[in-house]
Amino acid sequence: MDTLIERAREALAAAHVPYSEYRVGAALRTADGEIFTGCNVENANYSNSLHAEEVAIGTAVTAGHHEFDRLAVSSGVRDGVTPCGMCRQTLAEFCGDDLTIVCDCGDGEVATYTLGELLPETISASTLTDAADNDSPHNMSDSDSGESS
Ligand code: THU
Ligand code: ZN
Repeated sequence: MDTLIERAREALAAAHVPYSEYRVGAALRTADGEIFTGCNVENANYSNSLHAEEVAIGTAVTAGHHEFDRLAVSSGVRDGVTPCGMCRQTLAEFCGDDLTIVCDCGDGEVATYTLGELLPETISASTLTDAADNDSPHNMSDSDSGESS
């Protein structure tokens, strides 16, 4: 089996899911081959719940890693779950469109995507730097914001 899928499956065993009972595990591989895992951690207020991918990314970044080439995601029911929209955006902070995402469909089957397929045309750091460099009249600078200098 795909090693990264195996690690995602192991991680979901630790999921704290008293509300949804839907376990998710994620395994993220760094550009230099290290693997960081995460599971979902739910909360009684619901909205505080952490997603497995967020935990994996946060743990990897805490260890000083910012470059990743592959993510695996597995749910307890092997339904090919993909990262939600929020997690896709969190991945896009560190990963390019070419990040490979493998999703566990059970029976040794995986669905494979790229981040660019799952989250096309997203906002990223370059969106903001490009905007700052842009002389368009719609880009409010000190001279046209109406504030006196
Ligand atoms: N979940 C994840 O961990 N990752 C995702 O991107 C999809 C959703 C979790 C959150 C919640 O604990 C449970 O799955 C049901 O939504
Ligand atoms: Zn998510």
